[in-house]
Amino acid sequence: MGVAVPKFRIYQIEEIDFGWLNECRNLVRGYLHSSSYFTKEQTFNFLLDNKDNYWIVSLNDNRIAYIRSVIDHKSNAIMIGLDIHPTYQGKGYSKQIYRKFMKMMYDKYNIKNYYLRVLKFNIKAINLYLSYGFTVTEQTDIDFLMRYTYKDECHEGLKVE
Ligand SMILES: CC(C)(COP(=O)(O)OP(=O)(O)OC[C@H]1O[C@@H](n2cnc3c(N)ncnc32)[C@H](O)[C@@H]1OP(=O)(O)O)[C@@H](O)C(=O)NCCC(=O)NCCS
Repeated sequence: MGVAVPKFRIYQIEEIDFGWLNECRNLVRGYLHSSSYFTKEQTFNFLLDNKDNYWIVSLNDNRIAYIRSVIDHKSNAIMIGLDIHPTYQGKGYSKQIYRKFMKMMYDKYNIKNYYLRVLKFNIKAINLYLSYGFTVTEQTDIDFLMRYTYKDECHEGLKVE
C-alpha cells in the first residue's frame, strides 16, 4: 500500500466558517501584524464585509487553515497570508497548501505575482517562504515584504490533489 496523499480542499469562506476562523486567528494572533484579540461578534461583522478575501483550507473535512488574499487583477498580483491552526502545524502542510492555492489562482484568475508581509521575528515562516522561492523585496523595522513569481511549468509533475 502506498502512502496516503493528504486531500486538501480550498474554498471561499462561508458564514458557517466564521466562528472557526475567529478561534484559529486568536490562537495565532501573536504572529500577525495586528495581535489584538477579536470577539466572535467582531470577527463576524468584519468577515461579512470582507469574505471575498478569505479562504478556508480543509483536510478530510476538517478545517485546518485559512488564507487571506487581496487580488489586484490589473497586475495579476495577489497579497496573501496563510495561517494554519496550531493543531495542524509542523506536519509539512504549508507548501502543499501554497502549491494548491497558487495553481487555483493561476487557473481561475491568471494570478502570477505573489506578495506577503512577514514579521521579522517569525523565523519559521521566513524560512518556509525562502525555501519555497520567495525573495525579500523591501523591509521595514518590523517586517519583510516578500515576492514570488508563479511559473506554471515549475508545478508540472508536482502532485496537487
Ligand atoms: C507559518 C506556518 C504557515 C508554517 O506552517 P507549518 O505547518 O508550521 O510548517 P510546515 O510543517 O509546513 O513546515 C514548513 C517549513 O518550516 C520548517 N519548520 C517547521 N517547524 C519548524 C520550527 N519549529 N522551526 C523552524 N522551522 C520549522 C519545516 O522544516 C519546513 O521547511 P522544509 O520544507 O524546508 O523542511 C504556520 O506555522 C502558521 O500558520 N503559523 C502561525 C501564523 C503565521 O505565522 N502565519 C504566517 C504569517 S506571515
